[in-house]
Amino acid sequence: MRLADCHNFHDFRRLAKRRLPGPIFNYIDGGADDEVTLRRNSAAFETVDLVPDVLRGVTDVDLSVTVMGQKLALPVYLSPTALQRLFHHQGERATAAAAETFGTMFGVSSLGTVGMAELAKKHRTPQCYQFYFHKDRGLNRAMMQTAKEIGIKVMMLTVDSITGGNRERDLRTGFSIPFRLTPGGMAQFALKPRWGIDYLRHEKFSLPQLDAHIDMKGDSLTIGRYFTEMLDPSMNWDDVAQMVEEWGGAFCLKGVMSAVDARRAADIGCSGIVLSNHGGRQLDGSRTGFDQLDEIVQAVGDRIDVMMDGGIQRGTHVLKALSLGAKAVGLGRFYLYALAAAGQPGIERALTQMRAELLRDMRLMGARSVADLNRDKLRFR
Ligand code: LAC
Repeated sequence: MRLADCHNFHDFRRLAKRRLPGPIFNYIDGGADDEVTLRRNSAAFETVDLVPDVLRGVTDVDLSVTVMGQKLALPVYLSPTALQRLFHHQGERATAAAAETFGTMFGVSSLGTVGMAELAKKHRTPQCYQFYFHKDRGLNRAMMQTAKEIGIKVMMLTVDSITGGNRERDLRTGFSIPFRLTPGGMAQFALKPRWGIDYLRHEKFSLPQLDAHIDMKGDSLTIGRYFTEMLDPSMNWDDVAQMVEEWGGAFCLKGVMSAVDARRAADIGCSGIVLSNHGGRQLDGSRTGFDQLDEIVQAVGDRIDVMMDGGIQRGTHVLKALSLGAKAVGLGRFYLYALAAAGQPGIERALTQMRAELLRDMRLMGARSVADLNRDKLRFR
């Protein structure tokens, strides 16, 4: 199987599975507990149907949207995700370059493996910075300051991860940084020598956003331990209100799910929220962003930008979310499998396919621009 054989999300996932050692693939692919929410994220899109308008004379289609003050050529953006250089040696550099080619926004994670400053310097496309609220307030201040200095426009604070989700696939393989694999995990690495050679031939693994503040030489860091030991579970609305004020620009909360919290986010001056359950990786059994969209847009859609992520595999998933009032939709695994499969050309191929699906589906829906999509274009089953 080669890149040319990848025609959709499932193909990229299959190719990523072939290329990556099991523990790394399972880190991307897995969710919490029984992975109910993970499965539900994509299945939720099947609970509504599109009702097309015909004979609307759709020759040109405009896919652009404006979200968090940023004009994007596509209604999808590349959500911040961690550890990308483990998936392919180009890591975040590939993600950022592909986002720029398609005129959309990409996110850099606190757990990113390329520095946000390098990416901000190199790319003109909007970048959002995904922030975790650490116990170490000095680290929080330093990260915000750096983001400000390098001209990042959108701050995205993740609020669904004050403790690590129970990811049993990672427990089984021993996935951590540096690797402390179980014998089973080690055997899985031995099966992918090409990945190993590639990994060793490139720049040493690091977490530039955190490097100055944590000692990576000591104990190995599991994602669960990072969340549980380094993030501050006492974070509350007052802390966030203060951050919003200090930041003074576009600020959104990722992981808000209830209407009450959505109103509160608007009250403290947030400019957006992302309805998200962290790709089903945190609280299993939690509702999906898509399922919550209608209620939340009705509650705060006129006050702040409502976005969603989770489970997007197809252009029609995006159109359903936009019809319910999402301003833009975040992609996660969608581009990570493509990155793992083939680096930047992989992500570009996946986005080419996404754009083609969106253009085709908009035509079939009788919609010339995203503004033509609304709740009337859907029926709930
Ligand atoms: C994860 C984090 C790091 O889901 O966002 O693994």
